[in-house]
Amino acid sequence: MSDIDELVAAVRKSAKYRRVCEDVVRGIGERELAKGRRLKEAVKATKRKLHQVGGAYLEGGMDYVAWLDDLRTASGSGAEFRQACARIMGYHSSTRERLEILDEFYTTVLVDLQPVHSVLDLACGLNPLAIPWMGLLDGATYYAYDIYEDMVDFLRTFMKLTRVDGQAAACDVIRSCPKPRVDLALVLKSIPCLEQIDKAAGTQLLDTIDADHLLISFPVHSLGGRDKGMPANYEARFRELVAGKNWAIRRFEFATELAFLISKIQDFGSL
Ligand SMILES: C[S@@+](CC[C@H](N)C(=O)[O-])C[C@H]1O[C@@H](n2cnc3c(N)ncnc32)[C@H](O)[C@@H]1O
Repeated sequence: MSDIDELVAAVRKSAKYRRVCEDVVRGIGERELAKGRRLKEAVKATKRKLHQVGGAYLEGGMDYVAWLDDLRTASGSGAEFRQACARIMGYHSSTRERLEILDEFYTTVLVDLQPVHSVLDLACGLNPLAIPWMGLLDGATYYAYDIYEDMVDFLRTFMKLTRVDGQAAACDVIRSCPKPRVDLALVLKSIPCLEQIDKAAGTQLLDTIDADHLLISFPVHSLGGRDKGMPANYEARFRELVAGKNWAIRRFEFATELAFLISKIQDFGSL
């Protein structure tokens, strides 16, 4: 067995990483081995990185079976269904942070884009549970990708309870992600995380996503709750990523998130 195959097997033996898509483990593991680390150290470093980019956001108690029961029970009523979705979004710390602004977030940001027929949600976490707040067309296609196989299985079943035609898969959005043509792509609070794995991830994603509009956002607080000048640093990073592009850009500042709506086809100035 090669070192990388041994590393992948060792990392996926642990309960915490068993359901992380193999390609993600392989990508991070290859980078750690390329630094000249011994196998045992590379396994530890891979687990550390996986925690930073994924595990740290999970609150524990991810009971997908019970959640689907709750959602099915609530699905007859709009208000109860939304309540169940909001409660479940609380289990992913990044998605949870958006709960306090959820009523204004999508209505504000997407107001001039409707109707939206297709959405690509990259490194989605539990954000697809916000579909009832997005005002998408009935039958719109929603593609959701993250690294956890069990999470995306749950999301696929969840989307059957909504009015969208949902597809979800576990993949590494940096190395091997399908990028279907869509009206709107969401890359919410994920660029800093993906750039911890590959510094070119942000540039690569912005160049390869095939969407008329892209909603890119950044956290304004760290997971520990401290500010550390994050909004200014992330805005500077975003400006670097879009420098030289002939795209229209709108900026939105919310209590918990800084968002930029890019249009590759529309001049916002004329709206
Ligand atoms: C900061 S959270 C953002 C979650 C979601 N976009 C939101 O804002 O609610 C980052 C997400 O990226 C996912 N992730 C990290 N690395 C990834 C990769 N290489 N490919 C796909 N998803 C990844 C994590 O599992 C986590 O759910």
